[in-house]
Amino acid sequence: MTNKKGQLITFEGGEGGGKTTQIVRLRDSLTKAGHDVVVLREPGGTVISEQIREVVLSSKNVGIAFTTEVLLFQAARAQIYREIVLPSLKAGKVVLMDRSRDSSVVYQGIVRGFGEKMIEDLNDISTNKTTPDLTLLLDLPVEIGLQRRVESGKMDRLDMEAVDFHHQVRKGYLKIAKENKKKRWHIIDASQSLEKVEEDIWDIVSKKIK
Ligand code: TYD
Repeated sequence: MTNKKGQLITFEGGEGGGKTTQIVRLRDSLTKAGHDVVVLREPGGTVISEQIREVVLSSKNVGIAFTTEVLLFQAARAQIYREIVLPSLKAGKVVLMDRSRDSSVVYQGIVRGFGEKMIEDLNDISTNKTTPDLTLLLDLPVEIGLQRRVESGKMDRLDMEAVDFHHQVRKGYLKIAKENKKKRWHIIDASQSLEKVEEDIWDIVSKKIK
């Protein structure tokens, strides 16, 4: 474990749940409330991790092996935690992440079938055993999420997986959120309006971060 004093909040969920929009809104509210906030996405967030992102998500790389996929997500994670997340937490900042270790548990551990235990072991290496203080699952029916994604015109390699893949993703998230290890998970109904989702998020976060 790290000797952190900041707070790590992760946003998780399948496609089209509005994580990116909500993270920006939460950043603005927290900043107004006087917090020092850092916003990051995975895979990505550093020069090196963004290069790895390009390799792992490019729709050109359909031939990527699942094992390569597992390790590339972890490689991008190892870099962002060492370069930004761990130093920011140490400095007392609030770190908001658009996906982190739980994406690997669901997408690679559960859906691709590598197993939760193996992925959690890799996550511990990549994050130096850091788990989020709070994880917000933006949950919505697969059809609505994919429709939103198609309308946005931004489909990456994983968005283009079969519909069944996305159903498994949703089921996987709901499973681990309901187990709620360390009581850090909150399930948010992301099919509501942006404003209502923002409100629900603020209710939870403002109680956690004084
Ligand atoms: P991105 O466009 O950043 O996510 P979103 O769908 O939230 O807008 O794409 C990230 C994709 O990578 C997404 O399909 C989930 C997947 N992913 C994994 O499979 N494993 C991981 O560990 C991470 C971080 C992401």
